[in-house]
Amino acid sequence: MRLLHRHFIIGVTGGIAAYKTCELVRRLQDEGATVQVIMTEAGGRFVSALTFQALSGRPVYTDAWTSPSGSGPANGMPHIDLSREADGILIAPASADFIAQLANGQTESLLATLCLAREIPLLIAPAMNRQMWQNAATQRNIDTLRSDGTAILGPSSGDQACGEIGDGRMLEPAELLQHLVDHFGPDSGAREAAQFPNIRGILQDASVVITAGPTFEPIDPVRGITNRSSGKMGFAIAQAAARAGARVTLIAGPVHLATPEGIVRIDVQTAEQMHQAVMDCIERTAAEIFIGVAAVADWRPETTQAGKIKKSSGSLHDIRWVENPDILAAVARRQPAPICVGFAAESGSLDDLRALLPAKRERKQVPLLIGNIGAEAFGEDTNQIMLCDANGITLLPPARKLELAHHLLTHIATLRNRPR
Ligand code: CTP
Repeated sequence: MRLLHRHFIIGVTGGIAAYKTCELVRRLQDEGATVQVIMTEAGGRFVSALTFQALSGRPVYTDAWTSPSGSGPANGMPHIDLSREADGILIAPASADFIAQLANGQTESLLATLCLAREIPLLIAPAMNRQMWQNAATQRNIDTLRSDGTAILGPSSGDQACGEIGDGRMLEPAELLQHLVDHFGPDSGAREAAQFPNIRGILQDASVVITAGPTFEPIDPVRGITNRSSGKMGFAIAQAAARAGARVTLIAGPVHLATPEGIVRIDVQTAEQMHQAVMDCIERTAAEIFIGVAAVADWRPETTQAGKIKKSSGSLHDIRWVENPDILAAVARRQPAPICVGFAAESGSLDDLRALLPAKRERKQVPLLIGNIGAEAFGEDTNQIMLCDANGITLLPPARKLELAHHLLTHIATLRNRPR
């Protein structure tokens, strides 16, 4: 019962994936949650309101003017009242058209109006044909929603209802459930916020730029070089920084993580794109703090082959590698520089880490360098980190990444208040 006493609004818009939402509604209740389904007119053409009513045990709303399931005129203000009782709204499936309405703040349906009038987190699970998903207009709308703090869940790739194969499939019910558990479950931010009340406001209005995840350096259209960074530590730090009151920009390499509430996220692929995005953001937001958590590839192929390298025609031995820009060092060289924090994921033992961090901190010219044993930390939810600053080394006990992020930001806030 990981979602006991949680109440969700599940919005169903027009898409064949609506049949998967039936399963999700059932599973949410198995986890102890209650569910209010709201459908758009197009949603109701794929699965009937009656199906969702039977599954959720509650009448389904479709428009603002009639009571649920068409039993007469509406009472009160459902577009306001419904979200006041809920912990979050998930739109599944979210059609291209509904995404466009959300991005533009339109109010064509009860569901869209409710999203506009809400104070609670909004998560969307896009579902559409691959070309509709890739269309520049859809991608622009998705970027806008992301910047507004909406969590975009998926889509995944695979066979589509239209017979094509590609990106645009709605995530499976089990995956959507996991996202809701991550956001609202017993280990979610709300509980940890209660555990760490002291963080509130310690970085009020400071502009913080954070990099997270791996980078991907293409070799040819189908291959590339990357690493095993999951992005979880960087995302946890971004979440904690937002909670600390900072204005957070998160520049993420290719990762499969939902965007924490209240931050601006910019997605990049390569180290050069990350470098460019970081420099632009530092300038644009007058960043006071830069935290480089990304595992940036040190090298990239000098050129990306236009066509796939065939086994018969060449060899990967022929690739010439050139060094990528050192983003952290470039930010630290700025005049004036933000407070720069680096991450070093190393192999070996904690003693090895203790021995090498001070020299690396000097080399990187940063006030604070965080070390961890990379192979153990990649992809895990817990980690053990070592802080290295001008006063020496502090080893924190193993803990969840969000908890470590809170400690780290408390430390950074102290550095910020120290005369430099
Ligand atoms: N970093 C960066 N740009 C790079 C490489 C690394 O900004 N091109 C940042 C990382 O985000 C991290 C820090 O530098 O905060 C340390 O990364 P690490 O790979 O340990 O540094 P390197 O200088 O590459 O050291 P090593 O030779 O040990 O790999």
